Amino acid sequence: MRAVTLRREQSAQGPLILVNPAHPLRPGPAPELTAPDRRFPDILLERQTAGLLAACVLAAGGRGEIIPVSGWRSQRQQQAIWDDAWAREGEAFTRRYVALPGCSEHQTGLAIDLGKRTENVDFICPDFPDEGACGAFCRLAAKYGFLLRYRREKESVTGIGAEPWHFRYVGAPHASLMEENGLCLEEYGAFLDTGPKRRVLSNGRRVEVFRLSCPGETVEAELPEGCCQISGDNAGGFILTVWETPV
Ligand code: DAL
Ligand code: ZN
Repeated sequence: MRAVTLRREQSAQGPLILVNPAHPLRPGPAPELTAPDRRFPDILLERQTAGLLAACVLAAGGRGEIIPVSGWRSQRQQQAIWDDAWAREGEAFTRRYVALPGCSEHQTGLAIDLGKRTENVDFICPDFPDEGACGAFCRLAAKYGFLLRYRREKESVTGIGAEPWHFRYVGAPHASLMEENGLCLEEYGAFLDTGPKRRVLSNGRRVEVFRLSCPGETVEAELPEGCCQISGDNAGGFILTVWETPV
């Protein structure tokens, strides 16, 4: 075991941060961005997210059929999308399908909108049917760490309409845990708090997941030896992921 001290301000960074109007983005280092698909060089994602997205699209047989529609957005771009949607479609549509600027997970580089390749792809609500390569992508997404973020049955929790095209990178153990337990990201922290540790088999490896709350300025964490990831949750805590060392 080794002890580390985590500072509260670090809880706003990492792949598991919750971003919504109650948990806006907080200033931090800009993500390192790259294009997941070289045919669309302007659509960028955080580097690891981009690599895993490309791998998942390939595994789904979607290289020709699935296209990236919107990835990382700056604050200015999110504001422009909000203003444009409001002008064209009105308030109700905008609030349903566009996150408030400063509260969009697209601003993290961890979220991607995908579309089925067609003549005219809608920028805000692209078609992403649950069939063909798009359907195969949906079934593989958790294995590559992606979560279908805005489900119809969670509209009252997320405050966003169903978006079959919007995927959020959280990491494979977490995407599996949320999918298996029918949770959205808003519900994940409370779920982790109800048990000492959650165990999940992820891509053939046993993984333990737990949450540490940080009510004060700092919190001490006892980390087992081995492969461990610490992510803030942007909700006053940290989510720790420990991969069992293969024997
Ligand atoms: N469409 C999602 C909610 C966003 O704008 O971040
Ligand atoms: Zn989106």
